Amino acid sequence: MAAPWWRDAVIYQVYVRSFADANGDGIGDLAGVRAKLPYLAELGVDALWFTPWYASPLADGGYDVADYRRIDPAFGTLAEAEALIAEAHRTGLRIIVDIVPNHVSDQHVWFQEALAAAPGSEARNLFWFRPGRGSGGELPPNDWTSEFGGPAWTRVPDPDGKPGEWYLHLFAAEQPDLNWDNPKVAEEHESVLRFWFDRGVDGVRIDSATMPAKDPRLPDFDRRHPPTPHPYVDRDAVHAIYRGWRAVADGYPEPRALIGEVWLDRPDRLAAYLRPDEMHTAFNFDYLNCPWDAARLRAVIDGTLDSHRPVGAAATWVLSNHDVTRHATRYGRADTAMGRSPAQHGAPVDLALGTRRARAAILLSLALPGSTYLYQGEELGLPEVRDIPDAFRQDPYFFRTHGADIGRDGCRVPLPWSGSTAPYGFSPTEIEPWLPQPADWAQYSVAAQDQAPDSMLTLYRTALHLRRTQPALGDGPMNWLKSDPHVLAFTRGTEFSCLVNLSDTPAPLPADSAVLLTSAPLDEDLLPPDTAVWLHGT
Ligand code: NOJ
Ligand code: CA
Repeated sequence: MAAPWWRDAVIYQVYVRSFADANGDGIGDLAGVRAKLPYLAELGVDALWFTPWYASPLADGGYDVADYRRIDPAFGTLAEAEALIAEAHRTGLRIIVDIVPNHVSDQHVWFQEALAAAPGSEARNLFWFRPGRGSGGELPPNDWTSEFGGPAWTRVPDPDGKPGEWYLHLFAAEQPDLNWDNPKVAEEHESVLRFWFDRGVDGVRIDSATMPAKDPRLPDFDRRHPPTPHPYVDRDAVHAIYRGWRAVADGYPEPRALIGEVWLDRPDRLAAYLRPDEMHTAFNFDYLNCPWDAARLRAVIDGTLDSHRPVGAAATWVLSNHDVTRHATRYGRADTAMGRSPAQHGAPVDLALGTRRARAAILLSLALPGSTYLYQGEELGLPEVRDIPDAFRQDPYFFRTHGADIGRDGCRVPLPWSGSTAPYGFSPTEIEPWLPQPADWAQYSVAAQDQAPDSMLTLYRTALHLRRTQPALGDGPMNWLKSDPHVLAFTRGTEFSCLVNLSDTPAPLPADSAVLLTSAPLDEDLLPPDTAVWLHGT
């Protein structure tokens, strides 16, 4: 029997708002995605993951869901989503949608009902409402802080207009946390899963998956030294949620995949989410966050495979997403790990070097055992946009930290498709997109790269198509070859090997191997620094 698709798929993340705008209002939409399905099929990916496309005030780019059963009017309609799913399937692409268990939008009907209801009511018990501390309840119920900065509590007026209770939001104030101790919350989410699975969706990406279960005592704690178990991260009770979801997913003749956003620094705790009755895979953030360093990468690769083996789950490899600085930029600065501290954000960037490394990195990712995630625009080699004017910024990180964290807008700038000036074919009209595009992005457009043999797009297309012809790639074992410590060298099966040179001198290739693909030209028959090669032969 063939391995399930999620064990080796290449999955392309679509950030709808910035992918392609069909109706000319400057905001990407489903019709735009549909028009570009041939582009995605030609690129050679297997599945598309859509960040939330549901009705939302977009206080956090759609991770504030007001209604899971409606598409945001800026993006289209439910009928268009159904048509898009059907057409993607005809094109051979699977569809993954995003589910956000930890919170909903403050515009969600449940929260609106909770606001209108009295303290202690059933409606408020779907969330975490508590009286404040201090003599008049003027202080938050505890000292928890929002992931985006600032307090994790907001006070609301009572139905009679007087200052009332506070509600918990681990993210923005527009994202009240749900109370998973209330069985209605699980019932509703399982019904939402069925709603989308019934429409043919092949899997779900589970947002902030470690956070929905809370210590009901809501204790104060020291963030620098959190207690174990943590009051809201990775509590054992969270696993029951995903067991319930797995039962729903397995209830379909073609079982649906569960993919977790699980940020944890303990590999054994991460693996617990991948037990056979929970999720199928999780994003590999250790890999995403790993500096461009051979020993560190090798340790992450081994650590990933070692932690996944006991639960039988497939690994994933991720270089970028909508939450982190684009890796062409990261790899071009002195500190190549993730992070947006003012020092990292303001650091000098050697974009030629970053791009060279990004080319090598994708050949590494696609050669490793498991599945790979691509974030829209990385196939074009897009850099982070670091100089978005403050007036355009949208990310709650930026506002809630008063600019100390520049936020994630710089990796969410609309894609350039064609032409020499903005909006570079993103919109069919001359309108300015919701985030401004840099003046020098013509060089990155799909049209500019389409036929160029040395372009990033051509490298991605070539690698993705070649990966499909190599039976040893995707799921399965890998073996390290003996090599210089600054060179990653491994085999997949008996006929394929991959070498990545992270040293600053050219490295020799194994004898008797034939080059299938390189990320940059060889130097005579040596592998230059910051270059990867796929070889036939071991
Ligand atoms: C993780 C998502 O990827 C991010 O974009 C979002 O802001 C938070 N979860 C909150 O939903
Ligand atoms: Ca639009």
